[in-house]
Amino acid sequence: MILEVKKGKRFNEEFKVDADKSISHRCAIFSLLTNGENRIKNYLKAEDTLNSLEIAKKLGAEVKEENDEIIIKAPVKLKEPDDVLYCGNSGTTIRIFMGLLASNEGFFVLTGDEYLRRRPMKRVIAPLSEIGAKIDARENGNLAPIAIRGSKLKSFNYKSPIASAQVKSSLILAALHCDKPSFYEEPFLSRDHTERMLKGMGADIKEWKMENGECKIEITPLEKKLSPLKITVPNDPSSAFFFAVAAAITNSKAVLKNLTLNPTRIESFKQLEKMGAKVEYILKEDKYEPIGDIIVTGNKLKAITVENNIPWLIDELPALAMAMAVAEGKSIVKNAKELRVKESDRIKAVVENLKKCGIEAKELEDGYEITGGKVKEADINSYGDHRIAMSFAVLGLINGMKIEKAESIHTSFPGFFELFNKVAEYRIENGN
Ligand code: S3P
Repeated sequence: MILEVKKGKRFNEEFKVDADKSISHRCAIFSLLTNGENRIKNYLKAEDTLNSLEIAKKLGAEVKEENDEIIIKAPVKLKEPDDVLYCGNSGTTIRIFMGLLASNEGFFVLTGDEYLRRRPMKRVIAPLSEIGAKIDARENGNLAPIAIRGSKLKSFNYKSPIASAQVKSSLILAALHCDKPSFYEEPFLSRDHTERMLKGMGADIKEWKMENGECKIEITPLEKKLSPLKITVPNDPSSAFFFAVAAAITNSKAVLKNLTLNPTRIESFKQLEKMGAKVEYILKEDKYEPIGDIIVTGNKLKAITVENNIPWLIDELPALAMAMAVAEGKSIVKNAKELRVKESDRIKAVVENLKKCGIEAKELEDGYEITGGKVKEADINSYGDHRIAMSFAVLGLINGMKIEKAESIHTSFPGFFELFNKVAEYRIENGN
């Protein structure tokens, strides 16, 4: 699919973006640890999260939909599926399910699309193997397909070299089925939806933050099943951020409704504020997560350096790069090597495509430098990556843009196309 965006106009609009992807995945996966009916409102119906739900069904969950709720009832014991479990494009699905399945009796094979099959899985497979998991994968235990023979796991004390919520969540799920309490450490707090949700469901999880920013968690094994979830998934700040940038670069106003305001998720809005945009946060409720609206008003943008709190804005860096492309001066992003192993190599994808738009940009090993300038229309290769496709669609508001492989947008944000109508005219060609 080719998405051809026409130059946009100033706007003053309200956006109800789709539900949060991270929280939706966790609803599908954590429901399997409960003993009743999990009732989930506003579950994200995007390709990635529907794959998680489909896997829950293949493992024996009964899933039905009543009015606006998805109801998930877990089996007493997870079923050994008679086919491979397909995770599509989703790193969250494959990595978190690994931690759950490693301690479950049975044989499970996890795989995904051509992009997911290129992403590193050793970060989860290695620590799980150390505690007795029987897991194998291509390229010496690193790439999907991944085969798991569920077995008994030993409790652990693991210090992760990276701040990754996927690795952390996977190890927390494994720890829930170990014999004794386990400890997990990360160099910096990664998004903490897993801890918040599991604690809300009755799990015994304790957290400490050290002075140097490192975080430690103690996970006590489950003695009984968890209480079922009753949750309304908030909307996704990562999806909303595309419209925040749209407002920032066109001197417009975007009212972004019902987002999780979890600090580990809204750092990108803080950076946009530093660049000169006006940003207001309106807290409305606080259940598993703080939830509210964010209002972004465009203003003159100036360059910034982003080098701290990277795990809190890693998914939004490509969209933030679009604001950098029109800001005055040279912006720098550092300490963001993880960008290279996301749905695409996002350092390469951002820099290569910005250059096509006439913007001066340079790859660093762990980030990039972008000097704001005059953006021209270009043919963008999205590398099949949803966030690259949506970022450049937004940059198209300046002077138009043509984006290849834009069908990937359906992996996280199928509602994007309808909302994008509010800010620009566009055409879809079903080429390749
Ligand atoms: C996610 C964690 C992040 C993020 C991804 C979703 C999650 O990945 O980039 O889009 O839901 O746990 P890492 O934990 O690997 O950094």
